[in-house]
Amino acid sequence: MNYAVALVPGDGIGPEVVLQATAVLDALGDRYGHVFNYVELEAGGKALDTAGEPLPKSALEAARQCDALLLGAVGGPQWDTLPGHLRPEQALLGLRAGLGVFANLRPASLLPQLRAACPLKDEVLIAGNPTGQAGFDLLIVRELTGGLYFGKRGRNNDNTVAFDTETYSRQEIERVLRTAYRAAMTRGKKLCVVDKANVLESSRLWREVAAIVSEDYPAVETSYMYVDNCAMQLIRAPGRFDVIVTSNLFGDILSDEASVLTGSIGMLPSASLGSPDDPAAKHGHPMGIYEPIHGSAPDIAGKDIANPLGAILSGALMLRYSFGLEKEAAAVEAAVNSVLDAGLRTRDIAGLNAPSIENPERIVGTRDMGDAVLKALEM
Ligand code: IPM
Ligand code: MG
Repeated sequence: MNYAVALVPGDGIGPEVVLQATAVLDALGDRYGHVFNYVELEAGGKALDTAGEPLPKSALEAARQCDALLLGAVGGPQWDTLPGHLRPEQALLGLRAGLGVFANLRPASLLPQLRAACPLKDEVLIAGNPTGQAGFDLLIVRELTGGLYFGKRGRNNDNTVAFDTETYSRQEIERVLRTAYRAAMTRGKKLCVVDKANVLESSRLWREVAAIVSEDYPAVETSYMYVDNCAMQLIRAPGRFDVIVTSNLFGDILSDEASVLTGSIGMLPSASLGSPDDPAAKHGHPMGIYEPIHGSAPDIAGKDIANPLGAILSGALMLRYSFGLEKEAAAVEAAVNSVLDAGLRTRDIAGLNAPSIENPERIVGTRDMGDAVLKALEM
């Protein structure tokens, strides 16, 4: 099968890590008989430099024609002083809205190979964990195209007051809840709706809609939690969570918190999905934007030291969610796991666990890490 993949390598370390991700995809394609046709697009800082705007219309249009989009990272200090509408981040917001990817999946789990990177004690990791083990494996589903990020905003005439508004429709809430329930069905079958329903009217609507949608998923245990409590529970007993579903702003904040618990932000992928029923969805699977959650890290760009695993694992999520290639996605994840088992580490995840005699830790660069994943795939 042929797949059209929009590529936004972006700024900073983006291009280096995306290069490793596409190499892995191509190797998989050879092996399983798929062809990935890349359409490289400029967005973010690069587009500001060449086209004077963070997301040229032509780039968005071209991305729309593709089956999925793989993105490295955007942004850098040289664009930080530009006015709000010209910041590289606008490219992300424009792509999310323009491609209709309303559900952002941010998995966070504790890898045994990187246990020492997690700042939590064993007793905390065991608390509330149904496995009885020290660890966690959770998925944050963040609403991505509504709420405070896209609500009405402005200032009053004499510039003494500014406002942003949290607005959610039943339909916006329902579709992201359904994505979260579907994910929960393939995992631990627990879903926690996180909100601020003791104060916010929009949160009360979330609860109302969740009560209705939950009836369609009787196998999933639904619970509700206020966001301030959730921020606490994540560092007191992260193992109690399976899927968390929440609004755009709360999800932005909680997913950063969860990423710190894994201790390895360079490893974390994300998927932003539209609806499988969208007429633009190809192959019966949703359009998606796939990106590592780390930033553009301009200070280490071009030095061959960035961790490409977040980008490579984002490629795996693309195979799974936008192309329905579960076997291929699992093969990538297994290959990443095996290079970690073999002791390979980029600098950001080095020096964490005492190296074992059989597999001493070996510090490698971006390219060597990508090559190691390729080799592991061949085995
Ligand atoms: C994220 C980022 C973005 C967001 C910024 C860069 C606009 O923090 O993807 O979490 O707030 O959504
Ligand atoms: Mg964020």
